[in-house]
Amino acid sequence: MFYTEHVVHLRDDVNDNASKNSLNVNDVFLEHIVKNITVNSKILDIGTGNGFVLKLIKANSLFPVRLYGIDNSKEMVNASKGLAGIDIRLADNYNIPFADGFFDLVTAKNVTRFSAEELYRVLTPTGKFFLREYGEYKGLVEISKLFPGRLIRSRKVDFYAKLLKDAGFTSIEILHLPITRTFPDVKSVLNVVKSYPYIMDYSKEDEERIIRYLEEDQSHLTITSDPFILIGGK
Ligand SMILES: C[S@@+](CC[C@H](N)C(=O)[O-])C[C@H]1O[C@@H](n2cnc3c(N)ncnc32)[C@H](O)[C@@H]1O
Repeated sequence: MFYTEHVVHLRDDVNDNASKNSLNVNDVFLEHIVKNITVNSKILDIGTGNGFVLKLIKANSLFPVRLYGIDNSKEMVNASKGLAGIDIRLADNYNIPFADGFFDLVTAKNVTRFSAEELYRVLTPTGKFFLREYGEYKGLVEISKLFPGRLIRSRKVDFYAKLLKDAGFTSIEILHLPITRTFPDVKSVLNVVKSYPYIMDYSKEDEERIIRYLEEDQSHLTITSDPFILIGGK
């Protein structure tokens, strides 16, 4: 299991630093979700981690909402326990423990493993799925290019669009949000590198290579990202 106690803390750090991007993608993501919320909407966040997305929705929804999250990492679920009014369960994105048509909205941020058929099943007929992910360079374009052929689940947005279409979703809206991120120091880049499954067989030599690249020139701390938001409707 990748998402152990150690990674739980790295994820907190990564989410805290996100607001320092040239454009806050989380704000855009949230905006799209919030405008689809109505009174007592039921919302599920899959691969919820420490409940980051659910906390944002709770703080920004204009209406009362019913919030649920699932994650298959015990450590992540423990970290998100105690979020008042949010139902977080240890469960798999491939086997969602809720009835057909239970949710008005499903959200996923930085989640690459899920069953689109399950999302289709648990959404109401007018329900929508909101995915915020990175493209083939996994959010760190210049670093990724140092490791050709070694990126874990390096996928373009088309991959996810096809998954959803194959599961029955008929409307797919995609927003590409090219941004740069200026990191305060080498350590904060390394924290991101280690906060999700990124480089296959990541070794000490790989880490040294990244450090060398970042230290070569101050401008290397500004890294291009390749986020997208995908909204799928039935
Ligand atoms: C990169 S983290 C993102 C966490 C959170 N959404 C965020 O943005 O802070 C990916 C999360 O997906 C969870 N995950 C991975 N595969 C899963 C699966 N099959 N079912 C449920 N959760 C899964 C991991 O445990 C982890 O918490």
